[in-house]
Amino acid sequence: MFELIGKSARAKTCEAMQGIVSEMEEDLEDFGGTPAADTILAACAQAVEHYEIARYGTLKTWASQLGYTDAASLLDQTLQEEKKADALLTKIAGKLNAQAA
Ligand SMILES: [Fe+2]
Repeated sequence: MFELIGKSARAKTCEAMQGIVSEMEEDLEDFGGTPAADTILAACAQAVEHYEIARYGTLKTWASQLGYTDAASLLDQTLQEEKKADALLTKIAGKLNAQAA
């Protein structure tokens, strides 16, 4: 991705993701070892996917607007993968919630 736009990549901590993980850890402290634990994991994984969908969607739009066609295409590919993961988690969560109820 960075090669496509002629920039060097650098790591940066994502506080939003850390927040989602912290929320999951707190919920597991309260409900770990219960039938709700798996639903908590699925819900947090889905929150991660939703965040990724928002970010990849924005980046794809920006890449497109700036004329980085190849980068936009690559970002769209990743965006579609994130949407598939979200759909799969929706199916899994539905089954888990039915079992926990
Ligand atoms: Fe993802």
